[in-house]
Amino acid sequence: MASLNTQSRKLARKQQIRPLAGSLLALAIGLGVATAHADDALPKLSTKTPLKVGFAQTESNNPWRLAETKSFKDIAAKCGWQVVMTDANGSNSKQVSDIQSMIAQHVDLLVFPPREEKPLAPIVLQAKKAGIPVILVDRDVDQSVAKAGRDYITFIGSDFIDQGHRAADWLVKATNGKAKIIELEGTTGASAANDRKKGFDEVIAKNPGMTIIASQSGDFARDKGRQVMETLLQAHPDVTAVYAHNDEMALGAIAAIKAAGKQPGKDIQIVTIDGTKGGLDAIAAGELGASVQSSPFFGPLACDVAQRFAKGEKIPTWVKVSDRFYDKSNVQQSMQYGY
Ligand code: AHR
Repeated sequence: MASLNTQSRKLARKQQIRPLAGSLLALAIGLGVATAHADDALPKLSTKTPLKVGFAQTESNNPWRLAETKSFKDIAAKCGWQVVMTDANGSNSKQVSDIQSMIAQHVDLLVFPPREEKPLAPIVLQAKKAGIPVILVDRDVDQSVAKAGRDYITFIGSDFIDQGHRAADWLVKATNGKAKIIELEGTTGASAANDRKKGFDEVIAKNPGMTIIASQSGDFARDKGRQVMETLLQAHPDVTAVYAHNDEMALGAIAAIKAAGKQPGKDIQIVTIDGTKGGLDAIAAGELGASVQSSPFFGPLACDVAQRFAKGEKIPTWVKVSDRFYDKSNVQQSMQYGY
């Protein structure tokens, strides 16, 4: 489902500018000018076993997070990892302090999904300073603070902008290009929410019959999604479609729509992202229109990347995960992929 050979457009652009950046750095060093990131070398990773690996989870409030954590538990023995796990319970500051304590314990490798792009970027630099290599999974950090390939090994994850494009393309077709849409956003400040919004909004902006009438965060949580949808339904009774940034919020929205006496999938078309078991069941029941898969199974990929990196292989700055797509045409034969 993912390839280390997959080169992102970002990487291609980066490689194009690398010779220029390299000569500027050489010139700066030659002139004795201090540069902010003169030491671009990543910390080395030991090939010893067991390797002490810190996995700092953001929260455990939905099936996606549980599947992600499980994929690390499942790979640990096979990969020769002794994993230290923490759960930040939905708090950026707890995730930062969890990682700080892993740095203090001298783990050999840090792997984590940064809850939000900006608050979790400086800790990547702290880990680098402490000589601990980092792999980011699922979500990325602010590249103006910490850069993949320079400050951490790589980002392993989906193309969230593309997920937004795919969700919007489906909705345009399902509504014949005419809809009044409520958008339920994920955690504010998370790369998953920022990019899923960007991708979806880009496609909608090109379709004059499609309007986003309200857009609000439901924090990627089912009950918050239900509450936000309840309020927005009262303010916008003319809504004909919902785009939720994850399945859990879509399932919350379905409950709110039913409670308001409307039929999800008929009166209101719904499209979402994740491909959880609950999402696939809702598609089979005709209540959810489609879900773009967002794979949470990063354990084996992180193991592979770590082993290659330890052997000295060059790792691309983005190990892109490719995702499936589910709607009524393939949901029955896709149930095995739900989690
Ligand atoms: O970052 C990925 C998103 O975070 C998943 O879509 C969601 O379910 C999770 O909480």
